[in-house]
Amino acid sequence: MSRIFSGVQPTGDLHLGNYLGAIRNWVRLQDDYECLFCVVDMHAITNWQDPAELRANTREVAAAMMASGIDPKRNIIFNQSRVPAHAELAWILNCVARLGWLNRMTQFKEKAGKNRENASVGLFAYPVLMAADILLYKATHVPVGEDQKQHLELTRDIAQKFNNDFKKELFPVVEPLIFGAGTRVMSLRDGTNKMSKSDPSQQSRITMTDDADAIARKVRKAKTDPDVLPGSPTGFAGRPEAANLMGIYAALSDTDISQVCQDFGGQQFSAFKQSLADLAVAKLAPIQDEMRRLMDDPAYVEGVLADGAKKAQAMAAPILAEVRETVGFL
Ligand code: TRP
Repeated sequence: MSRIFSGVQPTGDLHLGNYLGAIRNWVRLQDDYECLFCVVDMHAITNWQDPAELRANTREVAAAMMASGIDPKRNIIFNQSRVPAHAELAWILNCVARLGWLNRMTQFKEKAGKNRENASVGLFAYPVLMAADILLYKATHVPVGEDQKQHLELTRDIAQKFNNDFKKELFPVVEPLIFGAGTRVMSLRDGTNKMSKSDPSQQSRITMTDDADAIARKVRKAKTDPDVLPGSPTGFAGRPEAANLMGIYAALSDTDISQVCQDFGGQQFSAFKQSLADLAVAKLAPIQDEMRRLMDDPAYVEGVLADGAKKAQAMAAPILAEVRETVGFL
């Protein structure tokens, strides 16, 4: 049986990139796999979080998952910190992973920036906790964006070294599931930068709490170039904004990018933007409405998370017991 694990951080300001790049793709997996979808609050605190906001953001991500169509009855939706086995396995894996491996992680270098001495130890060990998330359930497949591929490679290295060190095929080999269109949604102000919640400009991203007016305005003001739209994807060379906007259209409309080029090639950006704004509002509004409804019922959302944690805990328990036994804990 193939098992999926994926995680999203509750760091607030959930945006179109999170939706198209992650959550929406998960919806499709629930028919074919046994799935665990985790709100990784322990990863979030590798950078300081306001406690009240962390709680609210954890609920918001859970609400977004459900509003997008992830069924809490068929899947396990939970928040990481409710299952302490993640921390326990992470410690054991900290003793398997090598300092040299972690030193090569590009995301740490980016996130720590120049002031590396001041980064938390947790931020450095972040990829090991991610490996623990996945291996705790012996997940076989992990849907991730391009930016997480290196962490997944590390997960494989850690699993393999554990198996070698203890001469036991305990952990399976994990395969990434990389999605096509919409995996990488770029900033509306700069088509070469990923859409990100840490961009100081609100204009750079469409968030899951933007209303129809805000969505339309942001699309209208999105950066473009002076040419008409290309008639095929080969025309995207040197035109990151055209690629991004047409890519978003393709993802939202569930078509491929060549189709979008065929339909809109030769048109001005202004006309296309109107279509894109209409499409974005039509696709996002029902999800946003449902998200708001769920956010107004925190007890329900927390109930789902608590219930999911119970199921996750039960699934993890025999695997953690096997690990403990293997390393020689009494
Ligand atoms: N690091 C991932 C991100 O920032 C989130 C994450 C944590 C994750 N644990 C995971 C993703 C396990 C997949 C599997 O996007």
